[in-house]
Amino acid sequence: MTTSVLGIVGGSGFYHLPGLANPEWKTIESPWGAPSDDVLFADIDGLPIRFLPRHGRGHKLSPGGINYRANIDVLKRAGVTDLVSVSACGSLKKKYKPGDFVLPDQFIDRTFAREKSFFGNGCVAHVAMGDPISPLLFKALEKAAKTEEIDVHRGGVYLAMEGPQFSTRAESNLYRSWDCDVIGMTNMPEAKLAREAEICYASVAMVTDYDCWHDDHGDVDVAAILEVMKDNTAKAQRLVARLARDFPREHPACPIGSDRSLEVAIITPPEA
Ligand code: ADE
Repeated sequence: MTTSVLGIVGGSGFYHLPGLANPEWKTIESPWGAPSDDVLFADIDGLPIRFLPRHGRGHKLSPGGINYRANIDVLKRAGVTDLVSVSACGSLKKKYKPGDFVLPDQFIDRTFAREKSFFGNGCVAHVAMGDPISPLLFKALEKAAKTEEIDVHRGGVYLAMEGPQFSTRAESNLYRSWDCDVIGMTNMPEAKLAREAEICYASVAMVTDYDCWHDDHGDVDVAAILEVMKDNTAKAQRLVARLARDFPREHPACPIGSDRSLEVAIITPPEA
């Protein structure tokens, strides 16, 4: 049996989750370099929680400056079996309004200046990414949202862009023509690396703006994003705290094998 350990990667609102007990920041070293910050070890109703501030405490790292490999590695070393990503995103469709929560089920990775794999240097692996979101974690998030009476959009395509600048209008319209739902800068390569690390992954994308395509709304800016985030932090905290309270204490085997992805992925034969 594997004990569940719930990881959270996101913004500063999660230092103060309702019901968080025994908090302790711990430094974890990684051979992949420096992670964004120390990891907060804590528990909620006895469930081990490991929180990593994605941009570091005080938001010091740009999306492209985050060492995603080190972040996933330290979470793995901290025992995380299931990782929930919480992040801000822009809306690419009218139906997603600022303040809405989306649980994406697909990604398009348009980042290009980030390290994206633990493999390739003497050991080659190709993990499956057809279903990048782990279904049980997704369902647990849906259920937590329902219990807390928080409206969420179930499913959607999250386009991950490099940034740090926001999109041009032509780019925004291109992604809309691809039928993408939301746009953000952080969920890739995070989701790919979680899969390589055999950690179940799901994402909560909090809509903060209409990017720059909507005729009735001005172009996205950081002040507007922060304003919406301020109003939504408490909702995100409630969602994650509920998820933790109701989460199975024994990690259930992932029906699509996210937690054992390497069993069928490594191509390099072991050395004799
Ligand atoms: N994060 C929040 N809003 C965003 C947007 N419009 N584009 C990319 N990342 C975002």
